[in-house]
Amino acid sequence: MPPTDAPAVEAVPATVTTTPSQAATEEVVVLDFGGQYSQLIARRVRECGVFSELLPHHVDLDEVRRRKPCGVILSGGPASVYAEGAPSLRRELLDLGIPVLGICYGMQLLALELGGRVEGAEVGEFGRSQLIVRDTGRLLAGKPSEQTCWMSHRDTVFAPPPGFAALASSTASPVAAFESPEQGVYGIQFHPEVVHTPYGLQVLTNFLRDVCGCEQTWSPASVIEEQIARIRAQVGEGRAICGLSGGVDSSVAALLVHRAIGERLTCVFVDHGFMRKDEGAQVIDAFRDHFHVPLVAVDASERFLARLEGVTDPEEKRKRIGAEFIRVFEEEARRLEATGGDIGFLVQGTLYSDVIESGGGTGAATIKSHHNVGGLPEDLQFGLVEPLRALFKDEVRAVGAELGLPERLVWRQPFPGPGLAIRIVGGEATRERLETLREADAILQDEIRKAGLYRELWQSFCVLPDIRTVGVQGDARTYGNVIVIRAVTSDDAMTADWARLPYDLLEQIASRMINEIRPVGRVVLDITSKPPGTIEWE
Ligand code: XMP
Repeated sequence: MPPTDAPAVEAVPATVTTTPSQAATEEVVVLDFGGQYSQLIARRVRECGVFSELLPHHVDLDEVRRRKPCGVILSGGPASVYAEGAPSLRRELLDLGIPVLGICYGMQLLALELGGRVEGAEVGEFGRSQLIVRDTGRLLAGKPSEQTCWMSHRDTVFAPPPGFAALASSTASPVAAFESPEQGVYGIQFHPEVVHTPYGLQVLTNFLRDVCGCEQTWSPASVIEEQIARIRAQVGEGRAICGLSGGVDSSVAALLVHRAIGERLTCVFVDHGFMRKDEGAQVIDAFRDHFHVPLVAVDASERFLARLEGVTDPEEKRKRIGAEFIRVFEEEARRLEATGGDIGFLVQGTLYSDVIESGGGTGAATIKSHHNVGGLPEDLQFGLVEPLRALFKDEVRAVGAELGLPERLVWRQPFPGPGLAIRIVGGEATRERLETLREADAILQDEIRKAGLYRELWQSFCVLPDIRTVGVQGDARTYGNVIVIRAVTSDDAMTADWARLPYDLLEQIASRMINEIRPVGRVVLDITSKPPGTIEWE
C-alpha cells in the first residue's frame, strides 16, 4: 500500500508494458503488481549488474519463458490480497523452475497461494521499521540481526506457508521475511529497493547471486555491442536518418547507429534559431568533425523567426515551431532520398521511461512527440530504430560516455524542443530578445558550471518576460529588460523544487548579466516549486 510519507525515489510508473528484452544474456523479470516502487526494483537489479525489465503482472507466461530469466521478482502493489479483483498469482509461474522473490504484496500473494496465513492487520506499518533477523537463511545471509527497513503495508503475513522458514519479524510483521530454498520461493515484506532500507541492495544481491546464480556482469556499456548487432540485423543494407537535437538521447542513439551502419546513417540537425549559445556549433563539432558522422546542419532560423512574427500565445508558438520543424525535416529527408536513394529507417532516442510513460511498448511506431519539436508526419514511412528503449537516462549517459561523447553533451540538462522561444514570455520571440536571453543564459550556465552545480540541477535557465522596469545606472535612468533565473532540482520533471543557489553565486550572476548585457536592467529569482508551478514559464 502507498505509504503516507513516501521516501524520495525515482519516477513511479502507472502500468508498465515493455519491449522484449534487448540487452540481456542474464535477466531477471520484475512482475508489476502496481507498486509505487516497481520500476525502482528493476533499476536496482540493474545496478547489481543484472539486466532487468518490468512486465505487467498479467503478462503471457510464454513471454516470461522466452526470456529465460534467472529469477522473477513479484513487486508490491496497492491492493489487499483479499480485495475483489485484486491481482492474483498464477500458480504456473511457480512451476517454471525459476527462483521467485515476492516483495510486499508479492510476498503476501506467495504466502496466500502456498498455504501461509495473511491477514489485514488493525494497524498498518508505513515508513521506517526495525527488522529483527532470527535466521538469516540464504536471503538475509551476512546481514546484522537488527536493521532498519522500509515498510508500506496493511495486510500482514502471520504464518509462513508449510515448509518455509520464517527468517525475520518487524515491529508490526510477525513474518517479515521467509524462504523455502527447496521450492525456490522467497519473500520479504519490506522494500529492499528504497534507500531507506540500508541493507536492501545486499538482500537483492543475495537473491541474484546466491539464489539465482547470476554473474552480475551486465552494465549499460554492455548494451553497445548487443545493440550494434541488433541495428545491423534490423537495417540490413538500408539507410537511416536521425534528427539530432543536441540532447543526450538523440546523440547517443545516433552514435550507436553510426557504429552499426556507418555512412548509411545521416543525421539532420535543424537549427531553429532558438538554441542556446554555441549549442549548434558544439553539435556540429562533435558529430561532423569528431565522430565523422554524415551530418546535414540546416540553419532554418529565418524561417522559424518569420513563422513566429506577431505570435505571443505559448501554445500557438509551440504549434508553429512544431509544424515548421516537420516541414524542414521532411524537406531534408526528401532531399537526401533524391540524392542517395530511399531512407528506410528513422532513429529515435526513445528511453525506457518514455516507453513506460506512454503506457506502451508494443513496438508500435509512435513517434516520441516531445523528442522532436512536434512529431513527424505520418506519411514519412520509416521503420523505427530505437536503440535506447531499454535504458534509463543515467544508463544512456553511461553509454554516451563509453562511446566517447563529449562530457558537455553527456551531461546536458534537458532542453525543450521549442527552445528559447518559449522562454520569452508574454511577448513575441524577436531576434533582439532572443539575443538578450541567449546571452543571459550563457552567463547563468557559465557561473553554474564554475560553481560545480550543473549536474546537481535538473535544469537551470533564464526567462525573459515581456516587461521592462526602471533602474538607474551611472547617473542615468534606465528602462530595461527583466531576466528571471529558474533553477530546479528534480528526479523526473513530474515534480520539482527550486534550487537553493548560494547567495554569492546569485549575486555574481545578476551582476554579470546587468553589466555585460546592455538591455538587462534587473534580475529576479523564481522560487516556485512544481506543483503548483511548472518548470517552464510557458
Ligand atoms: P514543465 O514546464 O511542464 O516541463 O514543468 C517539464 C519538462 O519538460 C520540458 N518541456 C518540454 N520539452 N518540448 C520539449 O521537448 C516542449 O514543448 C516542452 N515543454 C516543457 C521542460 O523543459 C521540463 O524539463
